[in-house]
Amino acid sequence: MEAPTFFIFLFIVCLSTAADTLSSGWSMKDGETLVSSGQSFVLGFFSPGNSQNRYVGIWYKITPEIVVWVANRDNPLTDSHGVLTFSRDGDLVLVNQSNGIIWSSNLSRVLKNPVAQLLDTGNLVLRENTGLNSDVYSWQSFDHPSDTLLPGMKLGWDLKIGLERRLTSWKSMDDPSPGDYTCRLNIHGLPQVELVSLGSSKKYRSGSWNGKQFSGASVGSNEVTTSVFVYGENEIFFAYEARKSEFIARVLTMNHSGLLQYYVASKRSNAWTIMYSSPNNPCDAYGTCGANGICRANRAPICDCLKGFVPKSPEEWDLLICSGGCMRRIPVDCSKEEGFLKLAKVKLPDLLEFWLNKNMSLKECASECLKNCSCTAYANSDVRGGGSGCLLWFGSLIDIREYEQDDYGQTLYIRLPKSELDFVHNSAKKKRMVITVLMSAIAALFLLAMVYCRRIWNCRIKRKGSKIKEEDIDLPLFDLATIVNATNGFSEDSLIGAGGFGPVYKGNLFTGQEVAVKRLSRNSGQGLEEFKNETILIAKLQHWNLVGLLGCCMEREERILVYEYMQNKSLDYFIFDRERCLMLDWEKRFDIIIGIAKGLLYLHHDSKLRVIHRDLKASNILLDGSLSPRISDFGLARIFASDEKEAKTKRIIGTYGYMSPEYAFDGKFSVKSDIFSFGVLLLEIVSGKRNRGFCHPNHHHNLLGHAWLLWSEDRAMELVDGCLDDSVEPQVQRCIHIGLLCVQKFPNDRPAMSSVVAMLGNESASLPRPKQPGFFMERSSMDLSTAPTHEELHSINAVTVTMLDGR
Ligand SMILES: *[C@@H]1O[C@H](CO)[C@@H](O)[C@H](O)[C@H]1NC(C)=O
Ligand SMILES: *[C@@H]1O[C@H](CO)[C@@H](O)[C@H](O)[C@H]1NC(C)=O
Repeated sequence: MEAPTFFIFLFIVCLSTAADTLSSGWSMKDGETLVSSGQSFVLGFFSPGNSQNRYVGIWYKITPEIVVWVANRDNPLTDSHGVLTFSRDGDLVLVNQSNGIIWSSNLSRVLKNPVAQLLDTGNLVLRENTGLNSDVYSWQSFDHPSDTLLPGMKLGWDLKIGLERRLTSWKSMDDPSPGDYTCRLNIHGLPQVELVSLGSSKKYRSGSWNGKQFSGASVGSNEVTTSVFVYGENEIFFAYEARKSEFIARVLTMNHSGLLQYYVASKRSNAWTIMYSSPNNPCDAYGTCGANGICRANRAPICDCLKGFVPKSPEEWDLLICSGGCMRRIPVDCSKEEGFLKLAKVKLPDLLEFWLNKNMSLKECASECLKNCSCTAYANSDVRGGGSGCLLWFGSLIDIREYEQDDYGQTLYIRLPKSELDFVHNSAKKKRMVITVLMSAIAALFLLAMVYCRRIWNCRIKRKGSKIKEEDIDLPLFDLATIVNATNGFSEDSLIGAGGFGPVYKGNLFTGQEVAVKRLSRNSGQGLEEFKNETILIAKLQHWNLVGLLGCCMEREERILVYEYMQNKSLDYFIFDRERCLMLDWEKRFDIIIGIAKGLLYLHHDSKLRVIHRDLKASNILLDGSLSPRISDFGLARIFASDEKEAKTKRIIGTYGYMSPEYAFDGKFSVKSDIFSFGVLLLEIVSGKRNRGFCHPNHHHNLLGHAWLLWSEDRAMELVDGCLDDSVEPQVQRCIHIGLLCVQKFPNDRPAMSSVVAMLGNESASLPRPKQPGFFMERSSMDLSTAPTHEELHSINAVTVTMLDGR
């Protein structure tokens, strides 16, 4: 009898936890989920970000952080009494406590026996239950995208039923209701993908489809995806398929600030990694160079007027952002002779006023343009098979970009008066003369400079290409000009922090995205290659509790890292301030401790690299919008000290007060030195006091000593920050205990990060007794943990010090 009971039990468990279908008569309450048959996707109730509202959505089972589809996005439930069920007409509906309909699938016809199924593609489908797995759906979530395109989803049009599938951004991280940005396929004339902001001003466009690709974006395959564009009679759409690789989850999503981002997650990390973000180049921004301007990403300034055109207002012709545009030097006079200037490898101008004929040849197209006095340019509409079809532009030419790469862009012919064409040719000849002379002079100077450069600065020359690649990481390479622009030329006003690795600036990219720009100090002693390699390694570290690296810049002698910007500054800003400390109650502080521990665990054990942070401190714990901790500056120690294999370094990086004894005195470091710093941090979070500079009327110990004295006298709770009146005693006691274990004098006495995480998480496990901590000695006037000789050199109290050991 034993076995059958067991099987029945198993059967019931399977039904209640892993079902992928909802049949009529059944319903799904808040807290329950549907899981697709291959365990890829989950349909359930969720609250986004800091919001308390409830929504029904779909997410990848392994990484719930990105919700790929939301049902009731503009009609949230305010409590957790929502139920997903079927209406009498067979509609899938979300109802509230009083049976009011919050969301409905809005079917046009009645289903007698409806069934809803979450497919393993992430598609929620609704159909008549015929007992067969038919793929004729009455409704499917793939037809109503939110802000995310999953593999296999279509962006574009089903012309037969007049359905447009487009992405609409969320309002904010906390609010999935339709926000400011839309990504859609515009099929007016020739199809092109457009990113449009509210009030329908374009932000970006892919360039029109030319039979092979969008003239400003490639459609094809890389190691990770294969993208397709289908231009049929009944359907026009863009889609992508996952290629077989180590990634098990991927999304193309439009974030609330209008950036199209491609995320992947691998089996290894179960966390999302940004592979690609668009627009990511100043020339991508729609019409950056104004009417009749041309954008070249590799030039400074990036904008120029088309040949035969001059700036409308020269004084307004700003170097980088110019909106004034250009006008003809010589107005068109249709009675005079005219010709065309050929412009290769460009993103064709936007189709604002245009004329299209798919059957004409290029020659016919040219004469067609000359026939109409207001025609300004022409091009083939299809580049396949040597080119065919005719596109004519009238009026101003907007959003032209020239590419360096051969596989982008196509040829455009711009109409100019003959005199202007001659002028162009003559001046080109003259220019060539001047250029030859100049070039020789420059070459000589350059050679001189190189010699000088190599000797004195050991500087390198920038390499081509806008991305650095290694295996599966595509790290965007920012232009120095972009960074300079974003930070107002590294202005004082944008400075938000400074550490031993260099100053940090807040930057605003032209896309509106806020970033933190870290300008590494020059003396890293590293060459370009090493820097590049290390940066790629750092970029591979992806964890919820680590600050994300968005890209880097290595032009001239600059070594710059671009990170996500964290709104809420750093932990020290809160815990050491007598007013702001009130904003972090114990519950929040405990969350922060857990978060830091998880981040460190990842660095020490879970990431492929095994990174020792070496400068863990309160000011390196940044807080995001929801006050979740993000460890920053991780991996930088690698850049600054490459002799790590000896586990003993000549260059000591760290901050007094957080350094372990063996590291401060002998330069020996290991993961256990990070544990020491973590222990200090833990005690600081509990006490609201800095270890360094700590003073007490009754003794001369530092914070660690103070904590130890209190703990051994059973008065540990006296250590707790006065700001915390809601602390949970056993949990706080435990944290102090763990903190003391972490700051033990000998590395072997300190627990590993995995034990720390386990100890924090399990309230009942017994903990070993701590011995007296490292640096337990009464200070007189000199504190060994603050080494005053160097302190004076590095004035601000929490600054990272980098010193070369003179021994
Ligand atoms: C339920 O929804 C209906 C219709 O949207 C609304 O009128 C009603 O106030 C809601 N009831 C509750 C308890 O939220
Ligand atoms: C369903 O249809 C109604 C009326 O046609 C409309 O107001 C509502 O927005 C639709 N809901 C959805 C989810 O499409």
